[in-house]
Amino acid sequence: MNKRILSGMRPTGSLHLGHLAGALENWIKLQKEYDCFFMVADWHALMGEYEAPENISDYAIDNVIDWLAAGIDPEKSTIFIQSQVPEHLELHMIFSCFTPLGLLERCPTYKEQLREVKTRDLHTYGFLGYPVLQAADIMLYKADAVPVGEDQLPHLELTREIGRRFNLLYKTKVLPEPKAILTKHPRLLGLDNRKMSKSYNNAINISDSDGVIMKKVSSMITDPKRIKLADQGHPDICNVYSYYEIFAPEKKDEVRDWCENAKLGCTECKKRLAAAILDYLKPVQLKRNELLQDTSVVRKILDNGRQKAREAAANTMADVRRAMKI
Ligand code: TRP
Ligand code: SF4
Repeated sequence: MNKRILSGMRPTGSLHLGHLAGALENWIKLQKEYDCFFMVADWHALMGEYEAPENISDYAIDNVIDWLAAGIDPEKSTIFIQSQVPEHLELHMIFSCFTPLGLLERCPTYKEQLREVKTRDLHTYGFLGYPVLQAADIMLYKADAVPVGEDQLPHLELTREIGRRFNLLYKTKVLPEPKAILTKHPRLLGLDNRKMSKSYNNAINISDSDGVIMKKVSSMITDPKRIKLADQGHPDICNVYSYYEIFAPEKKDEVRDWCENAKLGCTECKKRLAAAILDYLKPVQLKRNELLQDTSVVRKILDNGRQKAREAAANTMADVRRAMKI
């Protein structure tokens, strides 16, 4: 039996190139070696979006369509929606009984979000327990490893701590110590050189039309010292060049030559980048459109995923209750 991984994404918006080149490409590779569970974390989305939850279920389906279009294979991996597996809540509740408040209050992601997020009130009971639900997600499938970005490492540490406490309290070994598989995020900044994010409105979405992509790429910030065509450019400080490195690495040397030797202007350089991104996205978008034509295929995949997830979850819950004698 292959080792198991579980990972998830919150359905809070359309997926963009950052998701594709980061998490998704990584998930696709991991499918070859691991028994993969990929989850839409809609309850986690709700913890932040509880004032306006009406789009979560549409984004959930839309994100799964992007996963499938990118190459997540339902024959190999179990794809499911968290809220269709009620056992997540049961294990979350059990974990919450013995998770010390101090551990949650000290969690760096929690402190950061309270500081940074001004558009909604996250001083809630539910949001404090965000990592407890994440621990339940991971332990419910007894995942050996969890592919995550660096920002999620504190949550994984908390997951291990919760697992250790459970095993210690109930003198058992039922919960494993999951490892992190760190997703190497390519240096992909948004159009304005800030982190690519839906909330900054600086992302290129997987679902963007050709026209929108061309317009977005033409608005990218380039080397500020290169004003005229005759000015020599510095590709290493230009975000356009880093996009070439990720989406058209075979053109890297050529672009460097155009740029450093002032052979081609930035407008043309960006036009060609847009064309390269369209090429990169073409197969994904074709598959996406095909899935959109008939979403019953997607619903069937999710139905199947729910059944497999519930079966695994029910087994773990039986072990958990047995260990606790409840
Ligand atoms: N917290 C994760 C994020 O925001 C999403 C998530 C929820 C998750 N449950 C998970 C990731 C379990 C990995 C494993 O990215
Ligand atoms: Fe950037 Fe291309 Fe302009 Fe060089 S030519 S500064 S790589 S956009």
